[in-house]
Amino acid sequence: SAQLNKLAKAAGKLYFGSATDNGELTDTAYVNILKNTDEFGQITPGNGQKWQYTEPSQGQFSYTSGDQIADLAATNGQLLRCHTLVWYSQLPSWVSSGTWTADTLTSVINTHISNVVGHYKGKCYAWDVVNEGLNDDGTYRANVFYNVLGDSYFALAFKAAAAADPAAKLYYNDYNIEGTGAKQASVVKIIGLVKNAGAKINGIGMQGHLIVGSAPSQSSLQSAMESYVAAGVTEVAYTELDIRFSSLPSTASGLAQQATDYATVTKACLAEKACIGITIWDYTDKYSWIPNTFPGQGDALLYDANLSKKPAWTAVSSVL
Ligand code: XIL
Repeated sequence: SAQLNKLAKAAGKLYFGSATDNGELTDTAYVNILKNTDEFGQITPGNGQKWQYTEPSQGQFSYTSGDQIADLAATNGQLLRCHTLVWYSQLPSWVSSGTWTADTLTSVINTHISNVVGHYKGKCYAWDVVNEGLNDDGTYRANVFYNVLGDSYFALAFKAAAAADPAAKLYYNDYNIEGTGAKQASVVKIIGLVKNAGAKINGIGMQGHLIVGSAPSQSSLQSAMESYVAAGVTEVAYTELDIRFSSLPSTASGLAQQATDYATVTKACLAEKACIGITIWDYTDKYSWIPNTFPGQGDALLYDANLSKKPAWTAVSSVL
């Protein structure tokens, strides 16, 4: 039957996938859909591989949460996107508030990446090496990494990841870079910066946290992807797609607009050979991160909170 990963693969893509999280895995109705490889050929841990879980205190590594998702993917025969290594958020305070020199912070980054990437070696199709290193105006985000190391931390992180798992595809991942603009132009700059430093960068992850009725046009989406390929990456992907209502409850016409917006993103990916796949940031409104982070907003995914397919699911499946 017409299911998303099966259709995406038939259309020449590598996968259609979903994020998931540890707390949801006791919900058997939820897991039954998640593990259906005709529907989802790839999964991403929504939290368990982040620094706060993997190295909560210096030198103390913990893989329990991340391993649960990695094992699920392996058991089901699904690709794993690994997420994420260097990010200002969900970063333990021993890192964000530490007193560092360039040398000591370099050592902290290298130790973190060699341990975490080493632990998952051979299991990750891709790693989001640096996440959200830019402000929306295209300037570098002033996080602890940038404040201590300047823009050199990007290449440093990519080099460490490549050394720990040479086969993993290495991505820079961010939001509001799906269409053209100042932030997209700065992603192009980051690709050059990493490559000029002699490091490997394979892909750009466009998170895709969009708002119903405000998605970039298909041509803007395609131009952004083409700019990344022109700058020297061989692949791009939508890594955290969700298209939320900025106010609730949603209406029938709103759900139709959401379906159109999901179709636009799917068409853009289909039209660009370098776009290897689409990952939604969980598949059901039951477990979306949106209401917690953007109070009053939500209903952003392809299945509703009762695990029924929404008009957006039908739109994606008809485009694929
Ligand atoms: C979100 C998770 O889904 C939430 O459970 C968590 O509380 C906060 O982080 N960009 C990213 C993801 O790269 O890691 C974020 O995930 C969503 C925004």
